[in-house]
Amino acid sequence: MLYPVVWREDRVALIDQNRLPREYTQVEIRRSDDMAVAIKTMIVRGAPAIGVAAAYGMYLGAREIDTRDRTAFLERLEAIGQMLRETRPTAVNLFWAIERMLKVAKETPGSVEEVRQILLETAHTVNREDLQTCQAIGDRGLEVLPQTPEKLRLLTHCNAGALATAGYGTALGVVRSAQTANRLERLYADETRPRLQGAKLTTWECLQDGIPVTVITDSMAAHCMKQGMVDAVVVGADRIAANGDTANKIGTYSLALVAKAHDIPFFVAAPRSTVDLSLGDGSQIPIEERDPSEIYQIGNTRLVPVGADFYNPAFDVTPADLITAIVTEVGAFSPDRLCEAFEKDASIAPSP
Ligand code: MRU
Repeated sequence: MLYPVVWREDRVALIDQNRLPREYTQVEIRRSDDMAVAIKTMIVRGAPAIGVAAAYGMYLGAREIDTRDRTAFLERLEAIGQMLRETRPTAVNLFWAIERMLKVAKETPGSVEEVRQILLETAHTVNREDLQTCQAIGDRGLEVLPQTPEKLRLLTHCNAGALATAGYGTALGVVRSAQTANRLERLYADETRPRLQGAKLTTWECLQDGIPVTVITDSMAAHCMKQGMVDAVVVGADRIAANGDTANKIGTYSLALVAKAHDIPFFVAAPRSTVDLSLGDGSQIPIEERDPSEIYQIGNTRLVPVGADFYNPAFDVTPADLITAIVTEVGAFSPDRLCEAFEKDASIAPSP
């Protein structure tokens, strides 16, 4: 099993996802500002993994604050939270983890040193819980996948795997659970332009775990569906609004439209920490725009002539009505019932 964020004695070891699949290396992070850079530059990426990394980033920050005064400590911890918040705007798990750490700090009585210790334990808990959550998402997802054919051909976009979480994955968690239950024929992985998380990361992960994987370019998905090669689509999410509209990697929306056109079920797999009940619908989800060089060059080679303009949104929003079900660790919900289910049963509602 792959663990992208690991605590090692006094520091965090992150799998450097920018170097995969060429080389498997870990980057050691000892300071909160280095953690902010690691998140921004996508050494660590994927909504839940960003949340776990930010939780450790908050602890590293707490360790850097040189005061015994609680009020001063909390003020400076809030500033560290703000620095981490400014790294990536779309994945709500980042904000969720920072708020959870700040809440714990405020509510823990005792000395600054005692608060620091609890913050480290809380970061470990966020990491451990996400792994358990992903395993549950995988199993809940398996329950709602189509009953026929016996062996399924699934298609995914981007990387919502172990690398994007504490381990196991959300969309790839469903794929893993299908593989374990002997219900997986093959996974189609969209290459996922412009950063190629599908081609580089999903493929690498699948090969590590013996999951049969076929890589296609993003523009091939419609053709594959028309040829009857795909039984269901499973993707992850960066933020889900109260009405079920879902932000995920750019290209997810067009994939959902194409799946609808071919009557192929489209599943979103995500932990409850990805649900943002404060946003009524997807139009309120902030969409990150990244550097145009992600489009005009591959590696160090420039592909596009100088002089063109570029637009590089990293995410898009899939409207709820294109989503068959949102699979969480507490069950699968029709997107329009998600909010209602949480309102009816407070014990399953997302909370820090
Ligand atoms: O820009 P990235 O690589 O962080 O985007 C990742 C995705 O869009 C994933 O699908 C999403 O975060 C879910 S990860 C379980």
